[in-house]
Amino acid sequence: MKRRDFLTAGAALLGSALLAPSAFGASRERVRVGMIGTGMRGQVLLQELLRRDDVEVAALCDIEPIMLGKALAQVEKFGKPRPATFGEDGDKHAYRRLLDGAKVKGGKLDAVIIATPWEWHAQMSIEAMQAKVPVGCEVVAGVTLQDHWDVLNAQLKSGTPYMLLENVCFRRDVMAVLQMVRSGLFGELVHLQGGYQHDLRAVKFNNGDPAKPYGSGLEFGAKGWSEARWRTEHSVRRNGELYPSHGIGPCAMYTNINRGNRFTRINAFATKARGLHDYITKQPGGAQHPSAKTEFRLGDVVTTTLACENGETILLQHDTSLPRPYSLGFRVQGTDGLWMDVNHSIHIEGKSKPHQWEDFQAYQDKYDHPLWRKYASRAEGAGHGGMDFFVIHAFIEALKAEAPMPIDIYDAVTWSAITPLSEQSIAQNFQTLDFPDFTNGQWRTRKPIFAL
Ligand SMILES: NC(=O)c1ccc[n+]([C@@H]2O[C@H](COP(=O)([O-])OP(=O)(O)OC[C@H]3O[C@@H](n4cnc5c(N)ncnc54)[C@H](O)[C@@H]3O)[C@@H](O)[C@H]2O)c1
Repeated sequence: MKRRDFLTAGAALLGSALLAPSAFGASRERVRVGMIGTGMRGQVLLQELLRRDDVEVAALCDIEPIMLGKALAQVEKFGKPRPATFGEDGDKHAYRRLLDGAKVKGGKLDAVIIATPWEWHAQMSIEAMQAKVPVGCEVVAGVTLQDHWDVLNAQLKSGTPYMLLENVCFRRDVMAVLQMVRSGLFGELVHLQGGYQHDLRAVKFNNGDPAKPYGSGLEFGAKGWSEARWRTEHSVRRNGELYPSHGIGPCAMYTNINRGNRFTRINAFATKARGLHDYITKQPGGAQHPSAKTEFRLGDVVTTTLACENGETILLQHDTSLPRPYSLGFRVQGTDGLWMDVNHSIHIEGKSKPHQWEDFQAYQDKYDHPLWRKYASRAEGAGHGGMDFFVIHAFIEALKAEAPMPIDIYDAVTWSAITPLSEQSIAQNFQTLDFPDFTNGQWRTRKPIFAL
């Protein structure tokens, strides 16, 4: 990509006032990137990095040799130079050697992407920022509320760029709806909904066989593979909105959270936990399997409500343990109408027939985001319907242009801290809690995400 093109694209992605120089040197044409965690998600992100001419994948780290091997095979398939590797010895802190750069050709990396289990995100991000290696972190930012303050403080202290790699903000319809919101199509926003409604039962259990990560058995923890190895444990120990950012990211963009608006109050309710146990016992031999004795704390449906300074409410639902088709359940409702993604429909007063839904497609075509119009062909074949191209693109372009990250540290910790706050609310009998202001008052003057 030519320099003028990427600056234009960067400005489009990031807002025009954002191309200020930073402590990280002059803008660059090409960046050297490392990855910590080359599991199922890491490999998807790696593919996006490898597809680009402006990225050199210089280092990879994973403590699971099979996952590392798969990532190396991807690099080879693209005909790119072999990166330095770390973690083959199973050392859980091998990422520190990746970060110090001494064993990486060319020295310290320009950035690191973290795609490890949630419990590692805060620690790895903090150490990377302290080592002055800019971070692109997979969702979530941390586990405990303190993690979120620690990640924020490490970023503020070090000044190292940090982006949460929340890809749903880049979904084509989500971005078109952002255009609709900004053009006033819905009138004044009043209420929004979103969530993570994804039947993960076959992800949370398998038989540990790397060739069959989904639904091949009933093991989890040390005997499981990929997410069954670590994610399921969170359903055993925790009860809350465990995966908020896919739902809240777009809703926060629409309502300008941390950028003229803020969350003020939060509460969460959880149902009983039945789905995972039921899934286990319905499998052949499941009732006798040791997993059938596990008591899961995570309610099957967790409903979280947020109140905003400007008067909107946002409702999130986490629903991963029951049979259901995938849907993030978006609803954006204002004084003039609403959009819902589950029925691919919209209703705008004065345009739609009274009390009737209209198909969304004509609106999608009319309000398609300029980034999608420009890059749709490059995004073709990228993960999750193309949005994984955009999230990596945004991160790399911001790095190269030395521009602030579009989904920055304040967005990251605000969206992700919904998890520990929802857990606290549920633990305190569904109490409504104050939502911390991570921006320390700066929400009043910060500019919207993706201001065009
Ligand atoms: N944005 C999305 O659409 C999306 C989709 C899937 C997963 N994710 C997120 O990506 C992250 C990873 O999920 P996944 O599905 O790839 O899980 P995974 O289990 O397949 O991969 C995680 C990898 O991290 C490695 N790892 C664990 N501890 C490590 C350490 N100390 N040092 C180095 N490597 C270590 C594991 O060996 C494994 O290969 C999670 O945060 C998950 O929520 C995001």
